Amino acid sequence: MKSAVEELRRADHIVVLTGAGMSVESGIAPFRGEDGLWSEFDPQEMASVTGFSKHPERCWQLFRLQIEECFGAKPHEGYEALVEMEDHGLEAVITQNVDGLHQKAGSKKVLELHGTLNELVCDSCGNRKDTEEMVGEILDGEIPYCECEAVMRPDVVLFGEPLPQNTLNEAWSAVEDTSLIISIGTSSVVQPAASLPLTAKRSGSTIMEVNVEPTQLTPRADHFLEGKAGEILPELVERLKDF
Ligand code: OAD
Repeated sequence: MKSAVEELRRADHIVVLTGAGMSVESGIAPFRGEDGLWSEFDPQEMASVTGFSKHPERCWQLFRLQIEECFGAKPHEGYEALVEMEDHGLEAVITQNVDGLHQKAGSKKVLELHGTLNELVCDSCGNRKDTEEMVGEILDGEIPYCECEAVMRPDVVLFGEPLPQNTLNEAWSAVEDTSLIISIGTSSVVQPAASLPLTAKRSGSTIMEVNVEPTQLTPRADHFLEGKAGEILPELVERLKDF
């Protein structure tokens, strides 16, 4: 912890990459592991472009669950710590999460690589709506339809789809210019997000990782802080302030 705090103090440009583990302490299930969504739902069936075109109502079982969890969730202290870290050089939060918790906490620059549950989109006519407008009906079990009569879906990246190109470009630029990247609560197995810390390292950045267990990234990390994001991040920022 001490050397990680020193590293944070030295770094003038900091970028954070978050994954589902960041939201676990806010009550949102991760994807992998025993209690992960992918142990209950088949992603090809429930979260892919082909699955959605074949049986949208089945995919909506998963979307509804995710929307219910995310709309009821509050950012924990780890999120607040990342907002405070902006005063100490944090320039961007790149997230694979679709729950909007970084924005709820007040982080200024959030790059959502996998989209957001906060908007609905119509693949047929391109119409968009705030999910909030229809959240009551959705949680009552209805499927949202567009004015053009197609089924709408959350604006999240489904399997078989590319990531939003502009957001991805911004993420690549951010990691190329950073002196420290902190990877938090991600299993580091899904590309291209998993490559971002390695790209940063090639450009001279240090890698710090926060996770409850080692991942594929851990052997490449300069600092591994084992523990919960909601506990480690507030401690890091407190110690940084006392430095
Ligand atoms: P995963 O579910 O694969 O990994 C969650 C990580 O968080 C694991 O490494 C856990 O050890 C760690 N973890 C759990 N609780 C934690 C806590 N309290 N504090 C810190 N770490 C904790 O989630 P992601 O890596 O985000 O994509 O998954 C990446 C992508 O795979 C997702 O965005 C999703 C999924 O398929 C799409 O849906 C497109």
